[in-house]
Amino acid sequence: MFPYDGNGFTHLSFISPFLLCSGSFLCVCVCVCVCVTVNKHKPWIETTYRGLITENTDVVLLDPPLVALDKDAPVPYAGKKKVSFTSICAFRVHGPSAPFEAVVLNRTSGEGLLRARGPIDCERQREYTFNIQAYDCGAEAGGAGVKRSHKAVVHVQVGDVNEFSPVFTSSEYAGSVREGRVYDSILQVQAADQDCSPQYSQICNYQITTENTPFAIDRNGNIRNTESLSFDAQPHYEISVTAFDCGQKRAACSATVHIHVKPVCKPGWQGWNKRVDYEPGMGSKQLFPKMHLETCEGAVSSVRVTVELQTGHNGKGCDRQSYSEKSLQKLCGKL
Ligand SMILES: *[C@@H]1O[C@H](CO)[C@@H](O)[C@H](O)[C@H]1NC(C)=O
Repeated sequence: MFPYDGNGFTHLSFISPFLLCSGSFLCVCVCVCVCVTVNKHKPWIETTYRGLITENTDVVLLDPPLVALDKDAPVPYAGKKKVSFTSICAFRVHGPSAPFEAVVLNRTSGEGLLRARGPIDCERQREYTFNIQAYDCGAEAGGAGVKRSHKAVVHVQVGDVNEFSPVFTSSEYAGSVREGRVYDSILQVQAADQDCSPQYSQICNYQITTENTPFAIDRNGNIRNTESLSFDAQPHYEISVTAFDCGQKRAACSATVHIHVKPVCKPGWQGWNKRVDYEPGMGSKQLFPKMHLETCEGAVSSVRVTVELQTGHNGKGCDRQSYSEKSLQKLCGKL
């Protein structure tokens, strides 16, 4: 990923050759060669990482994988491995609210692991952005001269688990139909789901669980009748419906739907009888005490009423017509 120049690893410091001369003019030339490790380079990491963590777990899968490189780090060189203090010792996560930490898995290779410090709940927070930085181990065993990388940006998305099941906005719904009519939608039921992802929070399907009903429900919760209904046959239906989220999780509680069948409305006078019995001596009697005009919610411009009375027996006229006018009126309660 970056060119290794082979120079950054060690410096050969030549401590000046000096002569040890004995009295016998035997000269020994000593050349001391000391290898000094120098921490010259900062560790290197990518500038951006994308991460994915499934809620309620703690390991973040990173793309690209978290690896810090250090030119000072030991690499195979000229056929053998050099030993150095400068490898990757730590990763730090910067961001006060980021509930993550990064650990070094292998100091030599610089591989790291990002993990959650506490429970990750998708319903509370769906993504996190923070910085991460790599630290090398410094030039000396004590850790002096530690160099750190630039800060890389990490975006972590929280993967959803289908923890919640759909819940209906109401446990009971009611609607009504006119008899003899087929509706596209009598009423709509609705369920919601608290999961954080579209897949697990959206309602994909509704179902009527009561068997053999003349109703159907669509995926939006609209209930329609599949045939025309008769008030006299059954004036009221009670059906159960359930809902499924797009992860196929079913509602724990069904909703109850009441559908009332209304009789067809016929405009006209209602609440009266054609036949009125009247016994002589009863006094005055109201003919239609409970009569009302059903307009079927239509507007009425004027009302004209004509009442025609006929006697119920065969033959013409009143059977008391032979009575005098005065006694007729008395018999009919007029006096
Ligand atoms: C650490 O990484 C180095 C270099 O990739 C590898 O040779 C070594 O086996 C790794 N150590 C462990 C414990 O995996």
